[in-house]
Amino acid sequence: MAESDKPVAIVTGAARGIGRSHALALAQAGYAVVVNDLGGEGNGTGADLTPAEEVVAEIKAMGGTAIVDGSDVSNWEAAGGIVRKAIDTFGRLDALVNNAGVLRDRMLANMTEADWDIALNVNLKGSAAMMHHAAAWWRDRSKETGAPVNAAVVNTTSGSSMYYTPGQTNYSAAKAGVTALTIIASRELARYGVRVNAIAPIAATRLTAGVMPAGGEERLNPAKVSPLVVYLLSPEATVTGRAFHVGADGFFVYDTPRPLAGRKAEGGDWTTADIARVMPAVLEGLPEPATSAATLGFMNTVPVEQLG
Ligand SMILES: NC(=O)c1ccc[n+]([C@@H]2O[C@H](COP(=O)([O-])OP(=O)(O)OC[C@H]3O[C@@H](n4cnc5c(N)ncnc54)[C@H](O)[C@@H]3O)[C@@H](O)[C@H]2O)c1
Repeated sequence: MAESDKPVAIVTGAARGIGRSHALALAQAGYAVVVNDLGGEGNGTGADLTPAEEVVAEIKAMGGTAIVDGSDVSNWEAAGGIVRKAIDTFGRLDALVNNAGVLRDRMLANMTEADWDIALNVNLKGSAAMMHHAAAWWRDRSKETGAPVNAAVVNTTSGSSMYYTPGQTNYSAAKAGVTALTIIASRELARYGVRVNAIAPIAATRLTAGVMPAGGEERLNPAKVSPLVVYLLSPEATVTGRAFHVGADGFFVYDTPRPLAGRKAEGGDWTTADIARVMPAVLEGLPEPATSAATLGFMNTVPVEQLG
């Protein structure tokens, strides 16, 4: 296969919502796009290729290049098939956007094994599987040519993993895993010239129907998330190993857990009584883990003019 003149991007879960917007924005930016989507319901049941085919048609209608793929990203082998399809069709791979996601909200006491598994499988394993296959290709390509590949990945985490939303233990644990996966992969893949970042988007889609402020549809248009993704994937960008919150009017870089306060035992010996004695002073004045109020703060306090 002759190598495409255009850079090539895979977007998973690209039939609807935020993924569709990424696919359109990347096509607009000159990428040939593999539009992957299983096409099921928001809770992960069912499958339908039609919405993904419609996005491909939309891209072609605006003069762009796109192909459809209906694979399930949570299947390790099928994920390899998506990467192979991009390379077999276009001869190269420059960008991967792991966007496919499902929600199965349940309080922990009511959670079934199936609820747990699907949230972890699509959101976390699906991202890892796609990255594994793309990374192997980039590693081989970089070794073959003796030069860095200058490729990039954007993974999709969630504010839920930063704000610890009750009812979302499965989803939040998966999305927190996506952030860890992102940062470790950025360190592993730097040697091949691959950058890896994560976004926690905020947008009005079927997944957020009912939890977003009423009347905010335009402000929360998924199209407002994609410019950052196009930037992070662009060969000129150098940022890697970062997590961004993005949507509405702006974006934030998010910190990852780091030590806040502690005590060191004299001479290395300590007892439970020692811990009980020092604990109140250690915890004194520390901020609590964030809650979803922080999302509202982000959305309400940062008009785009202030981003400088
Ligand atoms: N909308 C928000 O505010 C918000 C907030 C935080 C995180 N997210 C994340 O953003 C991403 C996009 O969500 P959205 O709001 O656009 O929802 P959406 O349901 O509109 O889009 C998700 C897409 O992923 C596809 N998909 C699901 N399982 C798949 C699988 N196994 N293989 C391939 N495709 C699959 C679905 O068919 C769907 O088209 C998700 O990862 C979601 O968790 C969204």
